[in-house]
Amino acid sequence: MFAKSSYISALGALILCTVSPIQAQGPEEARQEVEKALHLEADKERGKKVFEICAVCHLPEGWGTVNGLYPQIAGQHQSVIIKQLADIRALNRDNPTMRPFTSPQMMGGTQEIADVAAYIEALPMNPNNGVGPGRDLERGKQVYEANCAECHGDKGEGNAKEHAPMIKGQHFHYLVRQFDWIRTGKRRNADAKMVKQIRHFSMRDEMAVLDYVSRLRPSADKIAEPGWRNPDFPKFVRFPGAQMQTPMPPPMPPMPPRMERPQRPQ
Ligand code: HEC
Ligand code: HEC
Repeated sequence: MFAKSSYISALGALILCTVSPIQAQGPEEARQEVEKALHLEADKERGKKVFEICAVCHLPEGWGTVNGLYPQIAGQHQSVIIKQLADIRALNRDNPTMRPFTSPQMMGGTQEIADVAAYIEALPMNPNNGVGPGRDLERGKQVYEANCAECHGDKGEGNAKEHAPMIKGQHFHYLVRQFDWIRTGKRRNADAKMVKQIRHFSMRDEMAVLDYVSRLRPSADKIAEPGWRNPDFPKFVRFPGAQMQTPMPPPMPPMPPRMERPQRPQ
């Protein structure tokens, strides 16, 4: 009953956290923690231990859920994971579901952030992530190349140095949620240049480009065999309740109909 017990102890610690002193918050604290974590020597073995908490939601494989409620984090650049963790725990990115689990009392300090990020980066990625409807992929490719490749790479591989996330192979619904939150400013740690770039995107271009991105395959050395299970967590109990802690995301807006010119009678 590995997962259940760690989940229950997680809840216990959560209650403790609410009476503990408030930790440092804000973009500057997050920036300092990222800087520090990037210079520490990371230990994947220790990271595995920290990952027990993360596995409750992101699953032992780090693949998240196809409905996009929980993102895939497996294979992500260590620098990106570090930055997102530091931002989430300093309240520089809102994630009320996950934040209590990132408190120093729960997951540890900057060293543990570096360790768990190294562990996650080395996990092979989901070969069956959630993808979009697949109706507008040519356009998606064009939009991607003109607007995204500069920062996220030709193949969606991201840029570790610039902490630009790898976005290929991510669940489509997660991509849509983040894209919308970045555009509207709800995701406060977004890249200012990206916000400017996507501000005037039409719904059609957004859906097309994110569908295209979700279908970009991870490279052979980063992808798992279908059906792979993380052998580090042999006793993990995959009961569905573990993944129902937040409400489902709102339903997707319908795809705008294709504009077809009516045929003029000759
Ligand atoms: C209680 C559930 C829960 C737990 C436990 C949890 N997470 Fe998360 N995590 C989430 C949710 C939900 C999101 C997406 C939030 C959103 O939509 O912005 C997320 C997002 C993330 C992201 C951002 C991914 C991206 O590409 O934007 C990272 C990185 C991450 N989690 C790492 C971790 C790590 C490392 C741990 C363990 C220390 C952990 N999470 C524990 C629920 C959880
Ligand atoms: C000027 C550089 C830049 C451009 C152009 C850009 N992005 Fe980004 N994007 C970033 C950075 C940097 C982040 C991470 C910001 C942070 O949280 O630290 C990001 C985050 C994201 C995320 C959230 C991913 C995650 O795992 O949390 C998505 C999705 C995304 N970008 C998609 C796109 C798409 C699609 C385009 C093109 C239409 C695009 N971006 C254009 C730099 C850029």
